Amino acid sequence: MLTIAVSKGRIFEDALPLLAEAGIKPLDDPKKSRKLILNTTREDVRLVIIRATDVPTFVEYGAADLGIAGKDVLLEHGAENLYEPLDLGIAGCRLMTAAPVGAPDISGRIRVATKYVKTAQKYFADQGIQAEIIKLYGSMELAPLVGLADCIVDLVDTGNTLKANGLEARDLITNITSRLVVNKASMKMKHHAIQTLLGQFENTLSER
Ligand code: ATP
Ligand code: PRP
Repeated sequence: MLTIAVSKGRIFEDALPLLAEAGIKPLDDPKKSRKLILNTTREDVRLVIIRATDVPTFVEYGAADLGIAGKDVLLEHGAENLYEPLDLGIAGCRLMTAAPVGAPDISGRIRVATKYVKTAQKYFADQGIQAEIIKLYGSMELAPLVGLADCIVDLVDTGNTLKANGLEARDLITNITSRLVVNKASMKMKHHAIQTLLGQFENTLSER
């Protein structure tokens, strides 16, 4: 049995066609079902449905053999205890700094609101910028509007969310796509099954 951890929402939407190409279709409609373990059209594969930020944890501890997670989540979690063999190229976006439109660059210590605390800390340290990082769990765009922070670190895709809140993207921290991650012990113990699945994903991706 192979257990694959995925999050509902955009990663799942984008991953479904890829999984289907490998013969993996959930037996219950994930949009309607409240089940957290979904059996699939492949008897040897099941999906566990978890929060996006929890995927590396489930895979690291072997609660799932494989997982699909955004590079943003992997950078923040630290992926040294996982294998990351494949860039699935799905759920693409950019991790960026953003500030109110036209706001001058601040010299000296800045306040930054983000849910990517470690990644932001590293980024500003590498830039030689002193930053106080304020951890938020969502609605980061609000922080500069109400004086909580000078700027934010968040994901940008179309830029619509920034625009709607009078913010503009400033610096690109890194491009983001979702990656397939694999538990290290599973890679040894279930080598054949996992390599076969990896090959199927690779074939599908190379045909896109
Ligand atoms: P959680 O439920 O753990 O809080 P979340 O609400 O961030 O996670 P999603 O919004 O579904 O969950 O995002 C999952 C992943 O999709 C992110 O980690 C990122 O890699 C990618 N992503 C997030 N926002 C966008 C976007 N606007 N466009 C494209 N990809 C995105
Ligand atoms: C993500 C991200 C930004 C937005 C960017 O939020 O946190 O707010 O998408 O996308 P855009 O540039 O296309 O507007 P999401 O929609 O996932 O909401 P949530 O993180 O608050 O759940």
